[in-house]
Amino acid sequence: MKVCNTHRVNMYQVLAAVFNALEKRPVIAEVGVLRGENALKLHAALSPARMVLADSWSKEANKAYSPFDQLPPWVSPVEEYEYYYGGSLYDDETWERLYQECLAKFVDMPEVSVIRADSIGAIEKIREQTGIEQFDLVYVDANHQYEYVLRDMMYYQELLGPDGIMMLNDCCHSHHGTRQNLGVLEALGSFMKRSDFIPVAMTNTDWSDVILVRRDSVLVKLFDMALSNSDVPYVEVPHQLVTAARVVYGAQRANISFV
Ligand SMILES: C[S@@+](CC[C@H](N)C(=O)[O-])C[C@H]1O[C@@H](n2cnc3c(N)ncnc32)[C@H](O)[C@@H]1O
Repeated sequence: MKVCNTHRVNMYQVLAAVFNALEKRPVIAEVGVLRGENALKLHAALSPARMVLADSWSKEANKAYSPFDQLPPWVSPVEEYEYYYGGSLYDDETWERLYQECLAKFVDMPEVSVIRADSIGAIEKIREQTGIEQFDLVYVDANHQYEYVLRDMMYYQELLGPDGIMMLNDCCHSHHGTRQNLGVLEALGSFMKRSDFIPVAMTNTDWSDVILVRRDSVLVKLFDMALSNSDVPYVEVPHQLVTAARVVYGAQRANISFV
C-alpha cells in the first residue's frame, strides 16, 4: 500500500490514469453526497459514462450517530457540526436545501442520476431507476459509524466487478475523528478479513482517503504503475498495516503514523 503525500483530488487524477490505461469511461457512484461538491470533482476528473449520487438527505441519519442514550464524553454532540451542513441537522429544511444545492449542480448532466434514499435502500432504486448493475468505482462516504460503513462496504462490493474500485473517505483514526465517533478505519479492518479487497493507496492526510481493489485484480499492478509514474510522493508499507494507521498532529501539518 502506498501512503501518498497528497489530497484526495490528486488521487482522482491517479484514478483517471488507471481508467485511461483500461481505455474505459467509468460508471461511478458516490454514496453520501451532501452538496455534491466532491461529486463534481469526481465528475470533472473522470468524465464518467454514467454517475449515480445516492444520499438520504434526511434528518433520520442523526439517529445512527451513537447507539447510546447518553453520549460518551469523547464524542461531540452533532450540533457541533451544524456549520458544515449550514443548519440544524434535526431540521427538514437543512436537508432539503442540501438536496436542492446538489440537484442544481448536475441539472445539465443527463449521465448523472440522483437517488434520495438511505445507502442500502438506494441499491434497489439504482437498479430500478438507472438499470446499472455494476460500477467501476464506488466512493463510500455516507454514515461513518462502524456498523453502517461496514454494511455499506459489504453491500456495495456486490456492485463492483472483478476490476471494481472502492474508495473510502474519512478512513482514519484521529483526535477529530474520534470526536465524531468515526468507525471507517475499524470497519475496513473487518471488511478486509471478509472480502478479497486490499488497500493499494492511502492519503497521508487527516480525514484520509483509501483506495481498495480486489487482491487478484489487474488493478493492483495498474495503481502501482500509475502512482510510480506520477509526481505523487509516497512511501510503501505492507497493506496489512493499514489498521494500525493513526493521524498525528505536528506543528505544521498532520501525518499518518503506524507506530
Ligand atoms: C460527509 S457527508 C458526504 C460528503 C461528500 N461525499 C463530500 O465529500 O463532499 C455524508 C453524507 O452522507 C449522508 N448519509 C448519512 N447517512 C446516510 C445513510 N445511511 N444513507 C445515505 N446517506 C447517508 C448524509 O446525508 C451526508 O450528506
